[in-house]
Amino acid sequence: QARDDALRTGYHFQPPKHWINDPNGVMYHKGVYHLFYQYNPKGAVWGNIVWAHAVSTNLVDWTMLPPAIYPTAPFDVNGCWSGSATVLPDGTPAIMYTGIDGQNRQVQNVAYPKDLSDPFLRDWVKPDYNPVIAPGPGVNASAFRDPTTAWRGPDGDWRLVVGTKDNHLGLAVLYKSKDFKTWTPSPQPLHSGDTGMWECPDFFPVTSRGVDGSGVLRKHVLKVSLDLTRFEYYTLGEYDHAAEKYVPDASLADGNDGLRYDYGDFYASKTFLDVSGTRRRVLWGWANESDSTADDVRKGWAGVQAVPRKLWLARDGRQLVQWPVAEIESLRGGHVNVTRRVVRPGAHFEVAGLASPAQADVEASFRVRDLGRAEPWDPAWDKADAQTVCAARGADAKGGVGPFGLWVLASDDLEEKTAVFFRVFKRGDNGKHVVLMCNDPSTSSKEDGIYKPTFAGFVDVDIANNGGKIALRTLIDHSVVESFGARGRTCILSRVYPTKAIGDKARLYVFNNGESDVMVNHLNAYDMRSANITGSMERST
Ligand code: FRU
Repeated sequence: QARDDALRTGYHFQPPKHWINDPNGVMYHKGVYHLFYQYNPKGAVWGNIVWAHAVSTNLVDWTMLPPAIYPTAPFDVNGCWSGSATVLPDGTPAIMYTGIDGQNRQVQNVAYPKDLSDPFLRDWVKPDYNPVIAPGPGVNASAFRDPTTAWRGPDGDWRLVVGTKDNHLGLAVLYKSKDFKTWTPSPQPLHSGDTGMWECPDFFPVTSRGVDGSGVLRKHVLKVSLDLTRFEYYTLGEYDHAAEKYVPDASLADGNDGLRYDYGDFYASKTFLDVSGTRRRVLWGWANESDSTADDVRKGWAGVQAVPRKLWLARDGRQLVQWPVAEIESLRGGHVNVTRRVVRPGAHFEVAGLASPAQADVEASFRVRDLGRAEPWDPAWDKADAQTVCAARGADAKGGVGPFGLWVLASDDLEEKTAVFFRVFKRGDNGKHVVLMCNDPSTSSKEDGIYKPTFAGFVDVDIANNGGKIALRTLIDHSVVESFGARGRTCILSRVYPTKAIGDKARLYVFNNGESDVMVNHLNAYDMRSANITGSMERST
């Protein structure tokens, strides 16, 4: 029990107990951030799904509230599944969610706040005219869900998409409405792909950070969650308003090889436009446990939310970039700094001095001293994904340039550790470098029966042109290791369950298992305070 409690997070959102999954209806409304999420009020396994609710004024500290949307009517008696919020022009938020009706059909319902003068919007009303979108003829009623936030087209009408499938074809079907009540299907889907069911679609515009406000790039993003593989991918592209079609950039993979927000444990994510200050797009995503169901039942809890991440378009227009919202830094406490320290081949050193490296924020910038040591990229890997390469070459497999990076949640005898690292290869004789970012949890826990997948992504950077430099930020939170490589170009979240490296026993190291020296230009590690969680999820009777 003590260990189970020690694995709970300090600043990654989780309720006191029970099962959670997808973030829902995330929004900013009159000074308050709302996070709703899929929740089982009765246990630590999926089931009995309602929309739990929490509010915050800073995206860090949360007030827990009783569930906001729960089965009450024929159109949602069997569950209140995922959906989104849209703040209407008059300031009223509207929620669209999937109800599981009496025939176990998936239908889309609308809900409005009961009392707009309640700053927390605790109670929600579902009009009797629900469902507002029912599966039409030819639609698979058991795979028709997760409505997006609505947007307005040039004609002023609202549009949203619902995820569905037609055999193996995943679809984002488009609906139009003038009033959020009567919705008309568009004859064509916004987009489709041969990847199986599209859960939790998200569709929104993004811009890059221009230089002095000029040279700003604009694109649309379509993200889908694939229930077959349990990962998400996105494309960047153009929204053709006349044809009501989304057209992904031809240079990007559209499907299982597509770009991901996160190459680790991150699913059913959703963004919202935060208009509280300088407009920003904020991403929420769910990180499932990777222990067994029996472990979850024993722990009494399962699932966390990743930290909210700011998201924008890279200046090269080739991908999105993410970074933890700046508010998270308000939790930083005690601080340790390392400057210009060389890590020789096979060497490691401890970053000592934090009160608890089990709850920390680490920002490091490395410089590879001799990129000439990079191992040749095996052309056979061209067909493989990064994860396959990293799984074959874990953190302990010696390399040329790398593996180098951090050992987090490490025990003092190093029997337990999770490695977050880079490995650099060189393609052909005069070719470019291939940079991989990996998360290797294979030695993260001595406990049996834990799923310990290696996660990895390519990092689209020209490391030679960058003087051999590459940065890594890792948020450590007891059972969460959430990393941002190359200033947010590649992200990996991993769940781990140490038995020894818990609480104040956990340690933090820098390691280098390559042949090239690696210089730690700067490393700043911070103790993280716990978020302030108040309120109660119980409905007072
Ligand atoms: C994604 C998902 C959604 C669904 C919800 C049910 O994790 O399967 O498609 O609405 O979870 O809890």
